[in-house]
Amino acid sequence: MKTKIVEIKHDGEQNLVLKEAGEIIKAGGLVAFPTETVYGLGGDALNPESACKIYAAKGRPSDNPLIVHISDLGQLNELAEDIPEEAWRLAEAFWPGPLTMVLQKSERVPKETTGGLDTVAVRMPDHPAALEFIRQAGGFVAAPSANLSGRPSPTSFKYVIEDMSGRIEMILAGEDSRIGLESTIVDLTSDTYVILRPGYITRDMLEKVLGRVETDPTLMDGSCTTAPRAPGMRYRHYAPKGELTLVKGEEGAVARRIAEEIRKAKAAGKKTGIICTKESFSHYQADSIKCLGGRRDEEAIAHHLYRILREFDEEGVEIILSESFSEYGMGQAIMNRLLKAAGYRVIQL
Ligand code: TXA
Ligand code: MG
Repeated sequence: MKTKIVEIKHDGEQNLVLKEAGEIIKAGGLVAFPTETVYGLGGDALNPESACKIYAAKGRPSDNPLIVHISDLGQLNELAEDIPEEAWRLAEAFWPGPLTMVLQKSERVPKETTGGLDTVAVRMPDHPAALEFIRQAGGFVAAPSANLSGRPSPTSFKYVIEDMSGRIEMILAGEDSRIGLESTIVDLTSDTYVILRPGYITRDMLEKVLGRVETDPTLMDGSCTTAPRAPGMRYRHYAPKGELTLVKGEEGAVARRIAEEIRKAKAAGKKTGIICTKESFSHYQADSIKCLGGRRDEEAIAHHLYRILREFDEEGVEIILSESFSEYGMGQAIMNRLLKAAGYRVIQL
């Protein structure tokens, strides 16, 4: 299949392009599009065949449910049933935005879209072109991140082209994703509300609206034996090709240990890489040193993380050592993704 790549320009042409993209979705095709979190791979959420095509294009297991993207709040009633009052309050506080809610699904949503579950995940993205595209597509766009299964989510159209060229009808090329990590997922289907995937919307922010919110205990702990409640969190994800290890502890000790591990890897003839912050950047020596931003600038760290993981692959780096970050606030999302990328390999000092 030849993939049409179209740049989104912020001019009069934009609506024509988004209309064409919407027509492709209505006809059962697939279109990748930018959102504020990461790029999504969209298909008609109400068409079972579109869901199957999405799984095939990503090489993703079909028991891993898709998030349905909407553009207008009224559409929530069409997708979900028994919607608790709290869902409307969350929508009011955080939509459009990087929050996904899991609710009881309505008859209209096919099981192919929800990976066989009776629940449906719904999000309204905070991105004008994405919202207009969803409208043009009929209002219900199922979209996982637009990466091949097992690769980091794409935060630039360049990576969407790398992973999806030849597999889908169209790629809408916009700017780099503002946030850079996937949405927070909160499950509202049982009496206790649970965060299934941490993201930009933090537990504190949710608790201001919901009262008490739990976090799925499997998210930060590789030794947990229970299965995570978001099926997708169970797959090995975001993994760079090189072997990534996180080092946790006091800043000076971490820097010394990273330097030592890099020396050992070099002596063994390996190509080495380091993930660090502005504060420590100049202390290190390795084949490739990547700075995420200031240690306390979580927005910058989130924004750059997936790009950096992909760059190590491009450079053929074999051994990667990373500093660790605070698990408070958005730090929880950053550490969750890093831990998964590292296969939970951690040196605790
Ligand atoms: O920011 C995002 O959420 C991006 C953009 C494109 O919107 N999308 C995204 O989709 O990250 P994806 O498919 O890569 O991740 C969706 C996650 C998976 O872990 C999946 O298992 C979980 O959401 N999920 C979807 N529906 C669910 C449901 N009904 N119950 C529990 N987990 C669900
Ligand atoms: Mg994904």
